[in-house]
Amino acid sequence: MSLLGSAAQSELAFELERTRGRTEELLESLSDEQLTRQFSPLQSPLVWDLAHVAHFEELWLLHGGDRRRSEHVELYDAFANPRSERGRLRLLTPDEARDYLRRVREAVLDVLPDLDPFLVRTVVQHELQHGETMAQTLVLAGLLDAELPEVTASGDIVVRAGAFTLGSTDEWAYDNERPAHIVELPAFRIDRALVTNAEYAEFVDAGGAPPLVWHDGLPARQPVQHVSFHEAEAYARWRGKRLPSEAEWEKAVKTLGAELEHTRGAVWQWTRTAFHGYPGFVAFPYREYSEPFFGGDYMVLRGGSWITDPVVSRTTFRNWDLPQRRQIFSGIRCASDG
Ligand SMILES: [Fe+2]
Repeated sequence: MSLLGSAAQSELAFELERTRGRTEELLESLSDEQLTRQFSPLQSPLVWDLAHVAHFEELWLLHGGDRRRSEHVELYDAFANPRSERGRLRLLTPDEARDYLRRVREAVLDVLPDLDPFLVRTVVQHELQHGETMAQTLVLAGLLDAELPEVTASGDIVVRAGAFTLGSTDEWAYDNERPAHIVELPAFRIDRALVTNAEYAEFVDAGGAPPLVWHDGLPARQPVQHVSFHEAEAYARWRGKRLPSEAEWEKAVKTLGAELEHTRGAVWQWTRTAFHGYPGFVAFPYREYSEPFFGGDYMVLRGGSWITDPVVSRTTFRNWDLPQRRQIFSGIRCASDG
């Protein structure tokens, strides 16, 4: 008997194929040279991401997480090779990587009825998240233009004191979004709009650090992006405000989301919360997804960028990065005490 009903099977097959379509579209106009070059020590060569996506799918959907049975584990295990060194590895060529992706996917579709749907959703989200990582590489290399919406909202709203449920019970939620639990917060205020390039330019003129990508042609009314946590925090302080905690961000979106502009679809929004497990956290499906990053070195970002797939940019999704990083599509929404 299969684990999955036929409706669930076709939904998962659809998501697998839709995601692959996004990956292929992102890379379709690139030459082999562009796919194999390491543009930045912070980013892998694109062909590494490509074969790593195949490796991850093979490992979890064909071998149940058993690394000994997986092809190419020494090349494509993210923990075995730091990003800065991936350009020096003898990686699969673009054609070999595409062939690897195709072979793994064919085998996966054959066994789909017997797979754990949570693992399939994890594999889909993993590929979508690498799509965003590859888009960062392409933007930094000048091979892709960001498509940001205009900011039109202004002012802030009050979020009243009280309890709400932080986290998720959704079938797509990762281990770090669970368990959902009640959190009590005092009243606070949160800006309806993201910080724009024009607003951020005033901060730069006053001595603030510019974002990673910063030139005259940036549209004034678009959200600023490529800002580090340190810069975001300094900007908010300069305006007499502060960054929201991640609980504040999630409460505002869950209770008053319609009044906030660009909670997703523009830029990730830094919070002042360090990445930790929620009380009662249980690692699943594997320890390495979230747990090695807990402990206070990494700061949480919420929302989702202009390139983030809607499956990933759910309200409870927790992104994280080091506070000095700014190659990601990260911007600012300010808050203040109520
Ligand atoms: Fe990965």
